[in-house]
Amino acid sequence: MTLLLAPMEGLLDATLRDVLTRAGGIDRCVSEFIRVTDTVLPERAFLRVVPELLNGGFTRAGVPVRAQLLGSDPACLADNAARLAGLGGHGVDLNFGCPAKTVNQSRGGAVLLDEPELIGRIVAAVRRAVPAHVPVSAKMRLGFNDDQRAEDNAHAIAQAGADELVIHARTKAHGYRPPAYWERIAQVRQSLPAGRMRVIANGEIWSAADAARCRAVTGCDALMIGRGMVSDPGLALAIQGLGGMPWSQVLPLLAVFWQQVSGRVERRHRAGRFKQWLNHLRKRHPEAQAAFDELRVCNDPQHVQAWLMHRAVLPATPVAPVAAATRRFRPEKPITSPAAEIGQPC
Ligand SMILES: Cc1cc2nc3c(=O)[nH]c(=O)nc-3n(C[C@H](O)[C@H](O)[C@H](O)COP(=O)(O)O)c2cc1C
Repeated sequence: MTLLLAPMEGLLDATLRDVLTRAGGIDRCVSEFIRVTDTVLPERAFLRVVPELLNGGFTRAGVPVRAQLLGSDPACLADNAARLAGLGGHGVDLNFGCPAKTVNQSRGGAVLLDEPELIGRIVAAVRRAVPAHVPVSAKMRLGFNDDQRAEDNAHAIAQAGADELVIHARTKAHGYRPPAYWERIAQVRQSLPAGRMRVIANGEIWSAADAARCRAVTGCDALMIGRGMVSDPGLALAIQGLGGMPWSQVLPLLAVFWQQVSGRVERRHRAGRFKQWLNHLRKRHPEAQAAFDELRVCNDPQHVQAWLMHRAVLPATPVAPVAAATRRFRPEKPITSPAAEIGQPC
């Protein structure tokens, strides 16, 4: 079973990726989306979202990270994809699923699912712009208002040469409300030419039993997990048949998370960031609920520090934030797109 860690903008950033991949069981991550409008982004824009690029594109636990781009202009996405490929990393993923109003209003994310032809042109342009050995993948929902074009979109993505397609088994209109329509993933997958493109199932996998059912319903041998992994860092291990993770093993991960947050996040936001993860953990761990209740009104990082010290889980040596700790990564190959002048219009 191949397991991917889902992109989650505003929640699952490089810090949480670092911590969750330490837990084990994850084969690859996809980064939060990097928005592309009408210019070629500077290196720092990619590194801000994917600091793992400074470490050969790997989390500290050695799990590869693929960066995700979001936009609607094929040529501009292609230029930025070429630039991204020049920075190393493990491929380029394209976002056709974001439901946010602001993003959709500027023709990005799920709104493109009403235009399979444009989706095909985007994927084809990106495929052409990056070297053949760099994988190109896409992530889509079943549709915008309804799922009638799910097959058209998947075919357009496959024909344009994508290696993989993650299908989040809901439309934009469904938002994040259960259920996820796994059976539609099976139908889309079966409608594609055999062997052309790997299909990965996503949505509402909260337990090993969910993963087994999702696999059986969709026929997919690869799954992507998001909220389930954030609320239970042992979920990937459990799905892989390697046991789960009791609270006693989650606590040291929380401590590593806190140390990194302390190094990367502005002081006034640190406690909030810690509680954001606790808020998800309490879905699965009653101990997290107790911690959340205790720290609910706290905004002082020293209280969080004291809470962790009290439980004797802070490592003796501070863990440096991802970017600072890693070696400068020098790509072996030059940037591939001559058109990609940084900061210039695409
Ligand atoms: C807070 C949040 C942020 C998300 N950000 C992204 C994103 O940047 N790119 C993307 O393709 N999907 C994004 N998603 C969708 C998730 O990757 C995933 O498809 C969705 O959560 C369903 O999977 P799950 O049930 O395992 O969580 C986001 C979801 C949430 C809840």
